Amino acid sequence: MTQKITVKTLQKYKDENKKFSMLTAYDYSTAKYIDEAGVDSVLIGDSLGMVILGYENTCSVTMEEMLIFTKAVSRGVNSAFVVADMPFLSYHTDISTAILNGGKLIQAGANAVKIEGCNDYIIELVKRMTQSGIPVIGHIGFTPQSVNTIGGFRVQGKTDDTVEQIKNQAISLEKAGAVSVVLEMMPEQAAKIVDESLSIPTISCGAGKYCTGQVVVSDDMFGKYGEFKPKFVRRYGDMKKFISDCAKQYDNDVKSGDFPNSEEVY
Ligand code: KIV
Repeated sequence: MTQKITVKTLQKYKDENKKFSMLTAYDYSTAKYIDEAGVDSVLIGDSLGMVILGYENTCSVTMEEMLIFTKAVSRGVNSAFVVADMPFLSYHTDISTAILNGGKLIQAGANAVKIEGCNDYIIELVKRMTQSGIPVIGHIGFTPQSVNTIGGFRVQGKTDDTVEQIKNQAISLEKAGAVSVVLEMMPEQAAKIVDESLSIPTISCGAGKYCTGQVVVSDDMFGKYGEFKPKFVRRYGDMKKFISDCAKQYDNDVKSGDFPNSEEVY
């Protein structure tokens, strides 16, 4: 049996200057295949709001929805480190509610939760969650839950000042106890500066090759989500075409009377 990947394993990757992989998953069987393929970490991202539930952005995702998908994914994973996103509004109102919601995701099978943004409240929250036994991964740079205040899907950290700001946020998150930090949609050189100022691993989501980990939305990488393809995603398959071709063949076979044949009946 392969060994369970923990926060210690991820830290070891950073310490030994090695790389780890993280992919999103939202259902039992996809999580199982990703885990069996040897991917180090599985993220139940609130991107599920867009790619699974068809919402316009991630702000509509609720705790109830995150719990259903976290339970399904956790049942499929043996070895990978399981991370669940805390959805919009589940951690913003007060620390007690946030700890309760984070704890529910851990009870659903997550090994850590991920929260977006960084300000005084988030820093205090990371401290308190860590003290409560809930490992936290920070998420800075572009933070999709703030799409309405940012005004669109925009690359962050394009000036020296903003790189400095993101670097300071990352350092504060590390000091508060975060076990890792996701850097989303930043220039590669900016992410390098942030990564080099931390002793915990950074995870790139469109932030280049200098981070310890890489994460992408699996539906983007499988070629399943067709609405748009972020620049930083490499497509390894064309699931959209695969599903559409299978559906067309099935439809033809049913209508022509070819399905079911004599071997496909009781
Ligand atoms: O929701 C998500 O999938 C994410 C990314 C970092 C991939 O947060």
